[in-house]
Amino acid sequence: MIIGLIGHPVAHSKSPHMQHAAFAHVGLTDWRYELWDTPLEALPARMREVSERDDIAGCNVTVPHKQAVMPYLNAVSEHARAIGAVNTIFKRGRYLLGDNTDWTGFLADLKFHGVGVGEGTRALVLGAGGSARAVVYALASQGARVLIYNRTPERARSLLDALANSPYLREVRENCITVASLADPVCRMANLIVNCTSVGMWPDVDASPWPDAVPFPDQVVLYDLIYKPEITKLMTQASASGARVIGGLGMLAEQGAAAFEKWTGVSAARVSAIMREALNHA
Ligand SMILES: NC(=O)c1ccc[n+]([C@@H]2O[C@H](COP(=O)([O-])OP(=O)(O)OC[C@H]3O[C@@H](n4cnc5c(N)ncnc54)[C@H](OP(=O)(O)O)[C@@H]3O)[C@@H](O)[C@H]2O)c1
Repeated sequence: MIIGLIGHPVAHSKSPHMQHAAFAHVGLTDWRYELWDTPLEALPARMREVSERDDIAGCNVTVPHKQAVMPYLNAVSEHARAIGAVNTIFKRGRYLLGDNTDWTGFLADLKFHGVGVGEGTRALVLGAGGSARAVVYALASQGARVLIYNRTPERARSLLDALANSPYLREVRENCITVASLADPVCRMANLIVNCTSVGMWPDVDASPWPDAVPFPDQVVLYDLIYKPEITKLMTQASASGARVIGGLGMLAEQGAAAFEKWTGVSAARVSAIMREALNHA
């Protein structure tokens, strides 16, 4: 069977490494993961192909098509609809079903690292793009209080408005607010900081979304979604101030393992370790 990655561009993706390691690990030797570079004008034909070909079991979706694929799907999970992004498509017959595994992947990786998330969590989320929506949704689903800081404040507010459609409406309304500045004293209350901006991502590795003049909260855990480089400037800054730091590679593995489960029916728990290992070697 074939799984593909729909996006534009896709050549840089590490997903084939980890998915092939997982296929081999569970004996699915005739399964393969392909990169399907798909410009916007080619999306309708690509989606038709995914539906009609019986040797295709599903696909991942990445930038810039995570929203654009929705009209082609027969059903979209309530989570993906609330987050506003589909990153995994799986099939039942020729029916195409869309889901989002970024938010569960994020929570699974926090759990892997022994970081509990619940009503005692006071999270500060940096960024208000696609990944921030999945992260805020994940944190709100666990009852965490969430502050959102974004360079463009209107985008942070529209993120909260969009999440108001979620089943966690009350939690989002009651527990999530935006802040205008990282120097705002309320940010010092955070015990978890999550970087969902692209600042510091390769090749811009000397950049950080955190100003040097602003101290980090005491005893904070810093989670950076960026996985290239593995150690970002932000992680180095936070670590120097005594914070515990975690990079984004584990979330990448966990969202991939959750997608693997949707396609193959084999539990994510059976393959997540092998996928982490494959990513570390990729
Ligand atoms: N580990 C994983 O599994 C995983 C999953 C998804 C994403 N990611 C990573 O997460 C990062 C964000 O992805 P995304 O899809 O959310 O991107 P996105 O939708 O493009 O959002 C980018 C965010 O970064 C902010 N930003 C960009 N340049 C900035 C700058 N110079 N100064 C301050 N803020 C800036 C944007 O702020 P404005 O709104 O002001 O423009 C926006 O909030 C990427 O590095 C991606 O690789 C990792």
